[in-house]
Parts: sequence; C-alpha cells; structure tokens
Amino acid sequence: MNKEVKTIGILCSGGDSPGMNAAIRAATRTALFHGHRMIGIKRGYSGLLNHEFQELTLSSVGNILQRGGTFLQTSRCPEFLEKSARRQAADNLIKQSISSLIVIGGDGSFNGAHLLSTETKTPVIGIPGTIDNDISGTQYTIGYDTAVRNAIEAVDRIRDTASSHARTFLIEVMGRNSSAIAQKVGLCTGAENIILPHEEINCKSLVDDIKRGVARGKTSSIIIVAEGPVSGRSYQIQKELKQSYDLAAHVCILGHIQRGGSPTGFDRLMACHMGNLAVNAIIEGKDSLVTTYNQGRVSLTELEKCLQKTNKVNEFYTELANTLSI
Ligand code: F6P
Repeated sequence: MNKEVKTIGILCSGGDSPGMNAAIRAATRTALFHGHRMIGIKRGYSGLLNHEFQELTLSSVGNILQRGGTFLQTSRCPEFLEKSARRQAADNLIKQSISSLIVIGGDGSFNGAHLLSTETKTPVIGIPGTIDNDISGTQYTIGYDTAVRNAIEAVDRIRDTASSHARTFLIEVMGRNSSAIAQKVGLCTGAENIILPHEEINCKSLVDDIKRGVARGKTSSIIIVAEGPVSGRSYQIQKELKQSYDLAAHVCILGHIQRGGSPTGFDRLMACHMGNLAVNAIIEGKDSLVTTYNQGRVSLTELEKCLQKTNKVNEFYTELANTLSI
C-alpha cells in the first residue's frame, strides 16, 4: 500500500536569527528522507499571502547550515493581524496542497500561527527562533547563543581600547523587553554594571560604582545597557552622567551586528534537532505544537503554552554579576 505523501510548508517570520537556515535544512532533509515534500515560503507571512512558494530539494538546502540569516528571508507582516488575511493564507496553502505549516520565529509569529490554526484548521508546528530567548514554554530559542557570542566578541574588543584610554563605555545590546542577552553578555565580559530593559536608571549609584572601581585600580568601565522599549537610551544615560556628574562615557550600540554571523555549535545542534522533530511530529499527524528545549531536552510543547513573550530575569545571574564586578 502506498503511504500518503505529505506536502509541508516552511517559513521564517519576525526578526531573523542565526540557525534558521540549519533548521530549514533539517526539516527539509527529514521530510525528503521519509518521502514527503517540503515547500519553502519566502519572506514569512507576507510571502504566504503573495504566493511566494519554492519547492525545496536536497541540494537547495545544501551549504546553508553554517550561514546566518535565512535564505528564505523573513518579514514582519502587520497584514496577518487581519482575519481575512489569515483566511487568504489558508486558501493559498490549500492551492499548493500544503497540509501542514512549520513556522520558525518568535512569540508574534507563534500568535499568528495559533490564529491561523484555530480559525482555518491549518495544522501548524512552531520552531522557536529569536535571538531574544523570550518565548514562554521553552528555555531556549535558536539564535540566542550566537547573538551572545557576537556581543561578547564586540565587548571584548571595546574593553581593549577602553582600558588603553581609561574610558567608560555604555554598550547597548538588543532586547526590547528581554534581559537575556544583557545579563549573559554582562556576566561573561566582566561588565561593571548591567542595566536591564525596564530598570529605573540610577546614575548616582552608577557613578559611585565606577569611581570605586577606578579608586581600586580599574583601568576601564563597561556598562551593558539592554536596549529596552526604544533603542538608543544609552545616549540619555551618557547625557545625564555628563551633566549631573561630569563623567564622560562613550556610547556603542551593537545593534544588528548581534543578529548576523555563522551560528554557534549549540544553535546548529538545536536547529538540527528541532527541524527534525517538527517534521517527525507532522508525519505522526500532530498539530499545534512547538519544538522546545527544557531541562536539557528537546521535546514538543502545546503551541498555546508558547504564545507569551517572557522576560526571564535570572536573579542568580544578577547576584553573581554584582559579586564578581566588585
Ligand atoms: O529579533 C529580535 C530583535 O532583534 C530584538 O532584540 C530587537 O529589539 C528587534 O528584533 C529589532 O528589530 P528590527 O530588526 O525590526 O529593528
């Protein structure tokens, strides 16, 4: 008896993250290994609405595992907030004979997938991909480790020049609502201070810390600032430090440099595992799940549990950073 050949769609949505390509490759190769088809959808939900489909083959996903970004491209698609757009998307999938959709992205992308699934009965599976590591239901999102590595490398370089000139730097890292990058980067670079996204900034105590460090012989001070709701808040801190305390600080906003580059081994591994698991779940007829990483294990979690944006402040890391930066 011939088994049914499934046609699976895959797209990336929201901000790109290193490891997305590796996840697309893993999902595609798993599908083809088991005799199914994989259709890549370009530019996320926008491409889904605009009929941008591309059959993926063994070789079309070759030589992408190690590349940052996503060769399918991605987008933020406000149109998808409309119910009529989601109906259109479901119709477009049916026309392509796509019976299940894999969505790689963050909480916004998962919310779109959830609505698509509940309103149109389109089976969906999510793979968490965002450098912010801020989705409920999973302790890890693909791309975070690479973004942290990128930021650490940049901060280390700034430390060299800061020490040579005995300077203070405010270095802004990504994370609109997420403390994850700031906390880990601050800890791993020996930052003198870490300012989290929604933290009240106390310039007086910042200056006291810097002066204490200088008095005991520190040759530079690095303050890691999470970008918070609006990128560029380091400039306000810089201004206040100068105006109120006559302390000169340089600002460096790392920005999108954090989001590019070749994924780390850990991100590649997560991507291989999650891409494979997503397709295996579809083959088994499963739906409305997300591939998650918790307590060292990759498994499947209900999509409904992965819709919230979280700001997992690690209190232990906060204390550790305070202790070690003395
Ligand atoms: O993808 C997550 C993220 O990089 C956040 O850390 C950042 O706040 C935001 O995206 C930047 O978005 P954009 O690239 O659209 O400016």
